[in-house]
Amino acid sequence: MDIKTVGVVGAGQMGNGIAHVFALAGYDVVLNDISVDALGRALALIAKNMDRQVSRDKISEADKAAALARISTTTTLTDLGQTDLIIEAATERETVKTAIFEDLQPHLKPETILTSNTSSISITRLASRTDRPEKFMGFHFMNPVPVMQLVELIRGIATDEPTYTALHKVVEKLGKTAASAEDFPAFIVNRILMPMINEAVYTLYEGVGNVKSIDESMKLGANHPMGPLELADFIGLDTCLAIMNVLHEGLADTKYRPCPLLTKYVEAGWLGRKTGRGFYDYRGEVPVPTR
Ligand code: CAA
Repeated sequence: MDIKTVGVVGAGQMGNGIAHVFALAGYDVVLNDISVDALGRALALIAKNMDRQVSRDKISEADKAAALARISTTTTLTDLGQTDLIIEAATERETVKTAIFEDLQPHLKPETILTSNTSSISITRLASRTDRPEKFMGFHFMNPVPVMQLVELIRGIATDEPTYTALHKVVEKLGKTAASAEDFPAFIVNRILMPMINEAVYTLYEGVGNVKSIDESMKLGANHPMGPLELADFIGLDTCLAIMNVLHEGLADTKYRPCPLLTKYVEAGWLGRKTGRGFYDYRGEVPVPTR
């Protein structure tokens, strides 16, 4: 299976990073979103993030220009049908993801590999709703995609070996490192990371520390590049809550219950950086803790 063209569904935080790294690695990328504005914002952000890489001598101006020329955009999902590999990076809701695969299905080449960048939903269940569960895999990138070295590869129960091998080769071509995870709720990274973030929110909720002391403790006391609450805002509190719910329901263990304070922030629409407010308020010059 020689993968040359890649379709990316969803131009949000993850989709634009995925398009960025594939275009730089020489793949032709078709980036899809339902919103023209989101596609415009994604292209601008990709150019800006590539500028950072140019200014730090990671890539040349010519690499940037060639990569940007490899990305085309469309609001028509079916335009992705003829690509070799599709990476779904839409909202973390199973109904949305399933609908995307159903809409794509009649337009796909028989050999096209389907993948989802889901951070926690069952790959086996998503695969079972398509016509090609053997060519379906979890392909989980970390945020920010151009910086983070890891990609989790998750086989569904029916995934065949050629599909796994093809994706492993793609990860190598991207210059990243693959970790194989079994298809259980939240796989490896989020199974470990999210309970830590949730525990940080409990630590805040119970008044053991405030936002500043909790984040400083983990940055200076455990050498984490970001504190857990800063990281939660970076990932998106709605995504954190969705993953905790998948862990709680999927593993049926009360140790995964989402902290009520996390739920309250999400109910308020304080979803972190993307909405301007979460555990920090980002609307001013510098982020200010909200507790
Ligand atoms: N695109 C390209 N380059 C970027 C970038 C982007 N979006 N964001 C940062 N960079 C580059 C910078 O240019 C800089 O490059 P050099 O090393 O060459 O100087 C480097 O990354 C570091 O950036 P900064 O100096 O601006 O900032 P920093 O040192 O504070 O690092 C960070 C920023 C890399 C985000 C760091 O804080 C970090 O590693 N945070 C933790 C991130 C993390 O844990 N991500 C995983 C989240 S979990 C997940 O994604 C899974 C899920 O399903 C929820």
